[in-house]
Amino acid sequence: MIQVRKEKCIGCLACIRVCPFTVLTEEEGRPRLREGKVCLKCMHCAAACPERAITFDGKEAVLHEPLPVLPEGFPEALESHIMTRRSYRHFKKEAPDREVVRRALDVASWAPSAKNQHPAKWIVIDSEDVIERIMEYIVENVKETGTSPEIVSELKEEHNNVVMGNAPMLILCYGRNNAINSPADTAIAMTTAELALQARGIGTCWAGYLTRFCNSIERIRSLLPELPENNSFYGAFMVGYPQGETYHHIPERLKRADIQWV
Ligand SMILES: Cc1cc2nc3c(=O)[nH]c(=O)nc-3n(C[C@H](O)[C@H](O)[C@H](O)COP(=O)(O)O)c2cc1C
Repeated sequence: MIQVRKEKCIGCLACIRVCPFTVLTEEEGRPRLREGKVCLKCMHCAAACPERAITFDGKEAVLHEPLPVLPEGFPEALESHIMTRRSYRHFKKEAPDREVVRRALDVASWAPSAKNQHPAKWIVIDSEDVIERIMEYIVENVKETGTSPEIVSELKEEHNNVVMGNAPMLILCYGRNNAINSPADTAIAMTTAELALQARGIGTCWAGYLTRFCNSIERIRSLLPELPENNSFYGAFMVGYPQGETYHHIPERLKRADIQWV
């Protein structure tokens, strides 16, 4: 629960203006919590308070570091980063540094989510043995069921692994199925994480086949930490330092922003 430290509050009421659900109201020039209102725990009130007067459950509700100042040219740099992000499928053998990956996934905690529920959670696999066994199980499953036969034909005839390339690391994103919008929230968290990873030189590629198989093949589940009840995998990445895959140009997009202004 948010609390206003009376001794620090200067009565600017910035906290009231930014609350998305009018949880705070004014009383004698100071903010007061209203009964019966649902707080999203978004911490906007605390972030807007110039005096750090708002706490959450008795702890600081904002980061200790001062607000970063973005460098000049940042909008152009961000646009360039988005446009030069690519899907990488060819990687060096060694897996990326766990700490760099952890940091990128942590940054994704600041992605928006429906009612601030943040359902996205992660399983990171950098065991060569586990990755190999997952692929074995997928090949077995394709042969048994006949679904997605291109996975096996590409692998056997072309030595092309369309499920996970030669990734030394896989990142799986899962979440609870009864959150307001887990498909969107996890996709936004993954998109944010991908941009953060690629900014650190780590190549990624969304792995749609892998996501599907992680949900459908029981034997893959047995290789992984058990998911809580009523949770599913919503996305996955192949991850690694790119090797033999360099892009000299930005690819043309055949479908550019299709906008109707009203
Ligand atoms: C939800 C989703 C699932 C994807 N699944 C796969 C996949 O299973 N295998 C693969 O090689 N690429 C996969 N991709 C990558 C797309 O093929 C790639 O984003 C697209 O061709 C554009 O290339 P770019 O990301 O380099 O711009 C997937 C992308 C998304 C967003």
